[in-house]
Amino acid sequence: MKDIKTIGIVGAGAMGKGIVQIAAQAGLTVKLFDVSSQAVEAACTSLQQTWDKLSAKGKFTPEQVKAAMANVVACDSLEAMADADLVVEAIVERLDVKKDLFKQLEGIVSAQCVLASNTSSLPITAIASACEHPERVVGYHFFNPVPLMKVVEVIDGLRSDPAVGDALMELARKMGHTPVRAKDMPGFIVNHAGRGLNIEGLRAAQEGVAQFDQIDAIMREQAGFRMGPFELMDLTGLDVSHPVMESIYQQFYDEPRFRPSPITAVRLAGGMLGRKTGAGFYRYEDGQKQLPE
Ligand code: NAI
Repeated sequence: MKDIKTIGIVGAGAMGKGIVQIAAQAGLTVKLFDVSSQAVEAACTSLQQTWDKLSAKGKFTPEQVKAAMANVVACDSLEAMADADLVVEAIVERLDVKKDLFKQLEGIVSAQCVLASNTSSLPITAIASACEHPERVVGYHFFNPVPLMKVVEVIDGLRSDPAVGDALMELARKMGHTPVRAKDMPGFIVNHAGRGLNIEGLRAAQEGVAQFDQIDAIMREQAGFRMGPFELMDLTGLDVSHPVMESIYQQFYDEPRFRPSPITAVRLAGGMLGRKTGAGFYRYEDGQKQLPE
């Protein structure tokens, strides 16, 4: 395996930006591309602000901020990934779109380049089926917000070369994260074992057991989760969370344990996606959570 020094990130949304941050801080060259040039610009502006804030708090020196920012290369075409040792995809959660991207990437990158997907729920083996060399494809599933959630799932597809996963385990440690190896099963670890939190929280709300904020408070304060299910879904965004629930339900052949809820379907249809739209289960004013009306 080639040493991973240059990383390409495709998708400059919440996840892509977070991965750029930890990679640039670890001294890697990071090339960022998105179909939306505004998204790349917004991610770079936001990264600069984040590093400036960390510097103001004394966590980074101005030199470290300068060095991290210099490691980030904003790109206006996918072809810029040509010299990457690894490309991590963090685009929309749709199998057809991801497969199309991986196919395109294989025509651009070198034979040694590793291709990774940050998918929450789609089978790595299915994404890799678009590639001539599926052995170089793995899952690299970070959590939101990436710099704070210091764990990452490394997922081997059925055709992945184990050495590729090994290299990404090592890279995760270099970026200050704890990697956990998972097999290519629906939801991997967290969206399988952890799915019950969201699903049962939604069921309790649907059955009128308690309000969203009361369920969140209990799960946070009593059960020890960092966030309750509704706070978590608002952070993730229902445009991501609801399709993930549907996908895992379908992949387990309509297993009732994973059945999605109409509560999220209605909000998704109404554009109440969570923090990113200013309203979800909670309302957000200047980024501050307000109780539901
Ligand atoms: P997002 O909606 O914030 O960002 C996605 C970005 O991808 C957008 O800027 C969009 O313009 C860009 N994009 C879409 N299609 C593209 C294409 N064909 N080529 C290049 N860029 C394209 O999404 P987010 O939340 O960052 O999620 C990205 C991926 O990460 C998804 O697969 C999601 O399931 C996964 N994920 C999301 C988590 C979350 O909490 N939001 C947590 C873990 C994984």
